[in-house]
Amino acid sequence: MIDGGTLLAGVAGWPVSHSRSPGLHNYWLARHGINGAYVPLPVQPGKFEEAVRGLQAAGFRGLNVTIPHKETAFRLATRLDPVAKRSGSVNTLVFREDGVIDGYSTDGPGLLASLKQETGYQPSGHAFILGAGGAARSVAAALLEQGVTLTVSNRTRARAEELAQALDPAIRVADWTGWEALLGDADLLINTTSLGMSGGPDPAFCPDLSAARPDLIVSDIVYVPLETPLLREAARCGLKAAGGLGMLLHQARLGFREWFGADPEVDAATFSHVLGK
Ligand code: ATR
Repeated sequence: MIDGGTLLAGVAGWPVSHSRSPGLHNYWLARHGINGAYVPLPVQPGKFEEAVRGLQAAGFRGLNVTIPHKETAFRLATRLDPVAKRSGSVNTLVFREDGVIDGYSTDGPGLLASLKQETGYQPSGHAFILGAGGAARSVAAALLEQGVTLTVSNRTRARAEELAQALDPAIRVADWTGWEALLGDADLLINTTSLGMSGGPDPAFCPDLSAARPDLIVSDIVYVPLETPLLREAARCGLKAAGGLGMLLHQARLGFREWFGADPEVDAATFSHVLGK
């Protein structure tokens, strides 16, 4: 029951109706017996600052932030975690009682946590990132924070070069055409593009990983379908791999912990719940 003691949080975006976050957080709230509620907040472009001020004044504990507000969230945060600072984007805001707004970027760290859980990956050595959009920035920032060196390959090379300039000029930029041959000594390959996604620009995207090192770990942030063509190719080559659903669940943990005071689990029951099974 919602009453005066209910802890409130939500996800602000435009559009926001497709977000899986309300289902996930309300499932965890019920599982932990916490008096809390997590709601979708359709906030139009240009209205985000007004919404944040209002929600903060109304006693919300904080927000998840999605497209198109991640850069504004970065600007409004009065304190930033290292990954947010590096990536220039924030997907989690925590409103503190003294008026401080903490901003976090949890996509990259969430991906690393899910890789650790699903493949045993320990950040080290070199990683090869496909894509140079917002997701690539958070993933790259999280890996750089862990001391991993990076190569980025993107269809539009200039965007990869921009990413390198902004995050770390030591990042190597590789050609998009024939990138498989440039995997070289990478310990980790991450697809941060929408290639391979059902309904995306190229659902059949399936690079040939035959020449990869046998201990390469493969990661795809796409989770529709659960087994993407890239993951199937990794399995065919006997490589360890993890899909994007784990990242979605792990990136949500920090916010839940800060707003509602409990550490939620990412286990088989949580996966089944999010998949609607
Ligand atoms: P996000 O914030 O989710 O990362 P984005 O900023 O739109 O989304 O980035 C999408 C990524 O997918 C980009 O790296 C994009 O490449 P471009 O920078 O060249 O646009 C990549 N992408 C999308 N469609 C693609 C396609 N058909 N072929 C290759 N890359 C594609």
